[in-house]
Amino acid sequence: MIKTSASLLACNLAQIALEISRCKKSGVDWIHVDVMDGVFVDQITYGSPLLKSVRASTDMFLDVHLMVEDPTKQIKLFAEAGADLITIHAESFCNISELLKQIRKLGKKAALAVKPMTPIETVFPYLELCDMVLVMTVEPGYGGQAFIPETVEKIAKLRKTADQLGLKDLDIQVDGGINEKTADLVKKAGANVLVSGTTLFKAENMKQVCDELKKPV
Ligand code: DX5
Ligand code: ZN
Repeated sequence: MIKTSASLLACNLAQIALEISRCKKSGVDWIHVDVMDGVFVDQITYGSPLLKSVRASTDMFLDVHLMVEDPTKQIKLFAEAGADLITIHAESFCNISELLKQIRKLGKKAALAVKPMTPIETVFPYLELCDMVLVMTVEPGYGGQAFIPETVEKIAKLRKTADQLGLKDLDIQVDGGINEKTADLVKKAGANVLVSGTTLFKAENMKQVCDELKKPV
């Protein structure tokens, strides 16, 4: 089944609880929380205190995407604040295996992300420790960018490898530039969790767009 995860980066942050309930009513599956530290990427967004408030306001699945130089100290903070899934980047400076294990030990789902220029083979040694792999389809840092088509091949290669390893339940998430057109490309390649910021929040009819993104191919 295809799932959607709404990136709060594109919502009206002054009305975050209302925006989240709009997502829920529209059939969005997860809420995607983009954590940026101003070092790994230019912008600074939000930390675990915001997640704690979000957790108190909704029962939706909270998907935390850590775009930070060193996620080591953040794992416990975000887990305690109520994350359901925590994604770290393969390009961050940290002990990847240890952190993925720590996330699971804290009772959360663990995921590893790669930027568009990072070869997908980078994640292969860690697949057994991952519930999900995030294949970035834009350079991390900003919402509203154009989808990078070269990433489609990486998704297909990852799905093939996961199948060969018997990892049938591995979620493959895509993030950046997802709209009704690019959704078809990534779903055909094997992605099953679609992050969308601009397309969902700027839609005139969020439910209609969400249904379209979730349509099986
Ligand atoms: C980019 C973020 C994305 C972004 C997606 O660094 O990780 O989650 O908000 O936004 P859209 O869907 O607008 O490309
Ligand atoms: Zn993201």
